[in-house]
Amino acid sequence: MAWDYKREVEAIQRHLGDLSFQEQRILITGGAGFLGSWMCDVLVSKGAEVVCIDNLASGLRSNVAHLLESKKFRFIEHDISEPISFSEKLDLVVHMASRASPFEFEHYPIEILKANTLGLMNSLEIARHNDARILYTSTSETYGNPQVVPTPESYFGNVNALGPRGCYDEAKRCGEAYVTAYKNQYGLDTRTARIFNTYGPRMRFDGIYGRAIPRFVDQALHNQTITVFGDGSQTRSFTYLTDQIEGLLRLAALDRAKGCVVNIGNDKETTILELARKVLELTGSHSEIAYYPLPKDDPLRRRPVITRARELLGWEPKVPLEEGLSRTIEWYMAANLGKPKEREGSRAEDRSQKG
Ligand SMILES: NC(=O)c1ccc[n+]([C@@H]2O[C@H](COP(=O)([O-])OP(=O)(O)OC[C@H]3O[C@@H](n4cnc5c(N)ncnc54)[C@H](O)[C@@H]3O)[C@@H](O)[C@H]2O)c1
Repeated sequence: MAWDYKREVEAIQRHLGDLSFQEQRILITGGAGFLGSWMCDVLVSKGAEVVCIDNLASGLRSNVAHLLESKKFRFIEHDISEPISFSEKLDLVVHMASRASPFEFEHYPIEILKANTLGLMNSLEIARHNDARILYTSTSETYGNPQVVPTPESYFGNVNALGPRGCYDEAKRCGEAYVTAYKNQYGLDTRTARIFNTYGPRMRFDGIYGRAIPRFVDQALHNQTITVFGDGSQTRSFTYLTDQIEGLLRLAALDRAKGCVVNIGNDKETTILELARKVLELTGSHSEIAYYPLPKDDPLRRRPVITRARELLGWEPKVPLEEGLSRTIEWYMAANLGKPKEREGSRAEDRSQKG
């Protein structure tokens, strides 16, 4: 049976209630990616006209192929680090364009830095010239390896600019400084989300992300060794995509969130070993777990304080990890990615536990 993405879209619509995007023209950079494509789906379903810019660096055309027939959707293949202008008036710009995985930190550091500085500046300029609102998708990685956990928005972070994750963490920190500068100097209506590890259907499973959930699911379904880095006691707080998109859209839409920076993530902390065991249980896999050295600067704990999201946005995560994982596994199987195939051993080269 085909996997029905509409169930996720309807859940988000339901949770957004009467928040309206009707008749708005919205630019989404990075809209063919995992989170961006869900953003496009929900906004089109809410009556917005969506322009999606993506250079397909890590995104896939297939993520938005079903939207191409809609008059409410336009796809532009373009690198947002290069300027682009629009003749139509825009109401909202959502800057999501950025490679976002440890594999990519290693192989494409300059692209990542550009997407969150030059690319973001191009998005900010588009917003400024349209008198539009802008939402920037920053990350929990701005906290680095935090010394304060659970981590509130007021924490300044503990980041190694020179380490293997520096290109991403510092690019996002610089991005936040850009957004703040446009807010202060031009009075732009800005909003910044610090996204914590989010997972679900449309995450790439081919190794480019090197994220723990797609890797564990893929390994479990092929009865391959599950690669855990360190002793597995490091934690992450996993947010299912429907919760994340709802949080982002509330942040974008609510007038009272103007100028705010908000953690959007699940405040339930899970160890990587617990995650691996849950994936084994849900897939019924007989894979063994093997332990590899923890990558340099891998954060030991991730757990957000979400009081601001609760109070300002009226948002909280709703989907338990088991349910989100089951839905992700269902999608993976339906997309026929889970078909057994010959592979060699484990993929120790995907060295990180990013969610
Ligand atoms: N998924 C998470 O857990 C998570 C956590 C924290 C922050 N974020 C942020 O959310 C955003 C989306 O992440 P995602 O998980 O969907 O990743 P993704 O890699 O699936 O999506 C990123 C999209 O941006 C596009 N892109 C990259 N550079 C571009 C450029 N220069 N010009 C145009 N398009 C470009 C890619 O092709 C891709 O479609 C990113 O900014 C990421 O940093 C995600």
